[in-house]
Amino acid sequence: MNIGTKSLLFGAHWPLHNVAVTLAWKWLYGTWPTVRELAAIVLHDVGYVGCPEMDGPVGTTHPRLGAEIARHMLGEDMARLIEGHSKGFAEAFGLPLSRLYGPDKCSHMFEPICWYVFRTRLTGELKMYRSMNHGASPRNNDSTILDTEWFRIIRLRMARAGIEHAIKTTAPDGLGESQLKFADILDSVDAGARVKKGEVPA
Ligand SMILES: [Fe+2]
Ligand SMILES: [Fe+2]
Repeated sequence: MNIGTKSLLFGAHWPLHNVAVTLAWKWLYGTWPTVRELAAIVLHDVGYVGCPEMDGPVGTTHPRLGAEIARHMLGEDMARLIEGHSKGFAEAFGLPLSRLYGPDKCSHMFEPICWYVFRTRLTGELKMYRSMNHGASPRNNDSTILDTEWFRIIRLRMARAGIEHAIKTTAPDGLGESQLKFADILDSVDAGARVKKGEVPA
């Protein structure tokens, strides 16, 4: 079985990922997704099926399958919602990010770190993600950084990106005080982690 299918069955994109995305949607926007949006959430990552890698040339096109299904069953707007959830796909095809980008990025805040690390070790995703050097902080391939610590910081960085996009697209009346406060918390925790690792001066 290839890594994309494993990811959908029990890895990073397993079925409960969609539950986490739904919770993150409510947290970011203050309202639950509509039934059509929920259907789009369920479909958004199905294109990982059969993918031999996650972030390479094939994995980057993963929104396409779900978007095509949505185009036929839900309408063009839901297809666009799916296509715009992935920055890599949106940039590759000149599309705008959608309202699904933020919840997808924040979704990992809604699951235990150890549980994510355990599952992605089983699928081989963790090794694949950490073998790629994006110039990210912490350095992906630095073996002195524990997997749990690496993911703790990575998920904060992703959440910040999601929050910033949500604020940009829905402010002034889309986000409440609590979300803005949480953005500050993300900043301070992430900065603290980088100081701890000696990547930035205290
Ligand atoms: Fe995705
Ligand atoms: Fe996703």
